[in-house]
Amino acid sequence: MQFPLSFLSRPIRGVLLLALLSLPCSSTAIKPESGLQRTLTPVRHVNTSTLSIAYYDSAPGNSSAPVVVMIHGFPYSIDTYVDVVPKLVAQGFRLIVPYMRGYGTTTFLSPTTPRSAEQAALGKDIVDLMDSLDIDKAIFAGYDWGTVAVNAAAALWPGRCSGMVAANSYLIQNRQTAWAIAPPAALANRWYFYVFLTPQGFSALANDTRGWAETLWSKNSPQWNWTQAELDAAVPAFRNPDYVDIATNFYRNRLLYAPGDPDYAELADKLDSLPVIHAPSVTLDPDQAPVFPATDGSSTAQHFAGPRVHHIVHGCGENIPLQSPQVFADAVIEVAALGKHH
Ligand SMILES: *[C@@H]1O[C@H](CO)[C@@H](O)[C@H](O)[C@H]1NC(C)=O
Ligand SMILES: *[C@@H]1O[C@H](CO)[C@@H](O)[C@H](O)[C@H]1NC(C)=O
Ligand SMILES: *[C@@H]1O[C@H](CO)[C@@H](O)[C@H](O)[C@H]1NC(C)=O
Ligand SMILES: *[C@@H]1O[C@H](CO)[C@@H](O)[C@H](O)[C@H]1NC(C)=O
Repeated sequence: MQFPLSFLSRPIRGVLLLALLSLPCSSTAIKPESGLQRTLTPVRHVNTSTLSIAYYDSAPGNSSAPVVVMIHGFPYSIDTYVDVVPKLVAQGFRLIVPYMRGYGTTTFLSPTTPRSAEQAALGKDIVDLMDSLDIDKAIFAGYDWGTVAVNAAAALWPGRCSGMVAANSYLIQNRQTAWAIAPPAALANRWYFYVFLTPQGFSALANDTRGWAETLWSKNSPQWNWTQAELDAAVPAFRNPDYVDIATNFYRNRLLYAPGDPDYAELADKLDSLPVIHAPSVTLDPDQAPVFPATDGSSTAQHFAGPRVHHIVHGCGENIPLQSPQVFADAVIEVAALGKHH
């Protein structure tokens, strides 16, 4: 798939550039059905002030390669990016793919740190990881929870972000609007947000993390024929002692049923103002992801102060990098080009 790069040769500095381009996801829908588990290995570990972060690094220590930090969603793992990584390595990028707090072998250093999955914490984890790896700037890329994380990091630390790729565009939340009502059909698609507010939802997730992934992958990407091998690759990521706390806290915090960690209070207040993202951005709205219906990008335009290109990805569900790796890799290449012209 080719992007019309000629379009990008007319950058407009500091002015919103909203291009609505439609992409089919079909070129990557045909994948050999294989029982082989494909995973990103080896997984390394590094400490931040709060976490031991488990991550994949395609070029450890290479300080001359442009870095892309790619963040997974819920309930997924770093192996979401297994087919994106080689495509971007071939373009000279260094890919860093961390397990979020509560996933895989990313663990808290202290038993007393609140197990918060609030947006400020997810964003700060990215910058903390970059600090630990001595990386000044990177492209941030994500989908689902990963979008929350990359949006927050790009908005709060503009000096650290050279570009952003985000499925569903902009998912930073203002807590003032957390209880705004929504139409019943929209709430029906977010059913699990509310199940996870309850003790029963907590126990049900603890009881069957694989079953929850199976159900959410199917319901949140109804046209995606994901394979058992892909699910098998993700399931070990859920065997983390904090997984259920973190997974449920994400929804409880967003719906104001769980307070944030006081250590992030100042950052959390800043995020309530829905800060703009200055970095060049490529946003991707999948049109088969019922939780966040695709838009033409105009409803989120006010959140982007730099050049931005928006695409609708046809036939794709919420996990764009696993379902449609070429589209996701192309978006990273596109945002890097936007950044060069910026
Ligand atoms: C990370 O922190 C833990 C707990 O303080 C410590 O045991 C471990 O040695 C640290 N690892 C590294 C690589 O510094
Ligand atoms: C570091 O990355 C750059 C860009 O991808 C590449 O050209 C170079 O060969 C790499 N250096 C090493 C030592 O691998
Ligand atoms: C999950 O729930 C079922 C049905 O209540 C129960 O039989 C099973 O022991 C539970 N498994 C775990 C791991 O808690
Ligand atoms: C998914 O599988 C169904 C049933 O086997 C098939 O009809 C459909 O074409 C497949 N979709 C894609 C995108 O491959």
